[in-house]
Amino acid sequence: MAQLWGGRFTKETDQLVYNFNASISFDQKFYRQDIEGSMAHVRMLGKQGILTEDEAAAIVTELKKILSEIEAGTLEIAAQFEDIHSFVEAKLIERLGEAGKKLHTGRSRNDQVALDMRMYVRMEVRQTDALLKELLETLLGIMKAHTETIMPGFTHLQKAQPVTLAHHMGAYFEMFKRDRQRMRDIYERMNYCPLGSGALAGTTYPLDRDDTARALGFYGPSLNSMDGVSDRDYVIEYLSALSTVMMHLSRFSEEVIIWNSNEYQFVEIDDGYSTGSSIMPQKKNPDIAELVRGKAGRVYGALFSLLTTMKGIPLAYNKDMQEDKELTFDAIDTAKGCLALFNGMLATIRFHKEQMRKSAALGFTNATDAADYLVNHGVPFRDAHGVIGKLVLYCIEKNCSIDDLTLEELQAVSPVFEADIYDAVSMETCVNKRLTIGAPGKAAMEQVIQKEEEYLASSVFPAEEWEEALLHGE
Ligand code: ARG
Repeated sequence: MAQLWGGRFTKETDQLVYNFNASISFDQKFYRQDIEGSMAHVRMLGKQGILTEDEAAAIVTELKKILSEIEAGTLEIAAQFEDIHSFVEAKLIERLGEAGKKLHTGRSRNDQVALDMRMYVRMEVRQTDALLKELLETLLGIMKAHTETIMPGFTHLQKAQPVTLAHHMGAYFEMFKRDRQRMRDIYERMNYCPLGSGALAGTTYPLDRDDTARALGFYGPSLNSMDGVSDRDYVIEYLSALSTVMMHLSRFSEEVIIWNSNEYQFVEIDDGYSTGSSIMPQKKNPDIAELVRGKAGRVYGALFSLLTTMKGIPLAYNKDMQEDKELTFDAIDTAKGCLALFNGMLATIRFHKEQMRKSAALGFTNATDAADYLVNHGVPFRDAHGVIGKLVLYCIEKNCSIDDLTLEELQAVSPVFEADIYDAVSMETCVNKRLTIGAPGKAAMEQVIQKEEEYLASSVFPAEEWEEALLHGE
């Protein structure tokens, strides 16, 4: 047991209490952010004359070594320390002696952990954005290749009107695009530095909070020290955005599972992304899509857990807030894993164009267009709706499609029909006459694809140069 705060205690902590309290098993995940934060803090202490320049330089050099040794695997983060902060400080003191003991001047673990978590989440927000971008690139590739691939569009999981595969994929493109925007919004709000908030009330040392904020890539220091150590709403926002990503992935997975079924056969998931059955030799199961769908619940769980943890905590820091980490880390790893796997599955999936087209042609998906034909020839829409309804009933009895009927059969229901009806209700016409922006018609779709290409070429996050300067500058 190695504790930073033993001074006022006369008894050793009970082992169970120690284990219950310790966080090193999970907060070691942000060792890098912890060390970087300490480097910026100590440099600033040196510049402000709170430590001598030599002391600050010695500490920074040693912190860099500790970082590279952890990264190289030659320094193991030992479980007997209470948390990552204690571990790094203890190593520093072990190696530097007196100078190492000055690292924590003008700082509390409360603002330290607030900083570490914020920097860790900030990094993950960017990485989530990058994974979303990769998925969008895959989607755009499919969209470009399939502006003429006709498939049924559904409402109530009943065939409704024909669309194209490009259009269907384009719907997911918009969802994941908004997910990226959410990442950007979160970044914008969270990018203020809590370091210097102290335990809750700032410090009496003349810290330069602008300096540390800048050195760590923040827009500036946070403006209230109690809020600085207590704010976790950016984690909640991120978990909420991740939950939305998972909800989108889950809906998409559900469709892939349906499309991959024997009944639909719209797609075939690649062998590399499928699994077999231990008993049924014929089986090829969409387990990856099912797992992605299932894991959505786990990410929602993290969101609800943290919302509940935070709801009754008085200001400022309370130990409850240590619970912000484990489930968040799990949710991040889960969501990122799902994004990467789903993208791989989508990039290798085979689309059965013929099967999709056949399915679109067989489900009266052109009934709206048949009604519109009558409207264009002067029949009021409500009457046209009724006429086509009767026609559909007739076709169901005959087990055929509207365009299989002879002109005589059509005219028996409405004399308005002429020979051009067949062209008017062909799948191609139904799709390509839908040309308002956002509709599946090829020309409209091509305009959208052009816009999406421009969007993907523009970068979303500000360039990140602080880390290079912090680790390798001066
Ligand atoms: N492990 C703690 C956490 O995650 C670090 C902060 C501890 N501060 C304190 N005053 N006990 O919140």
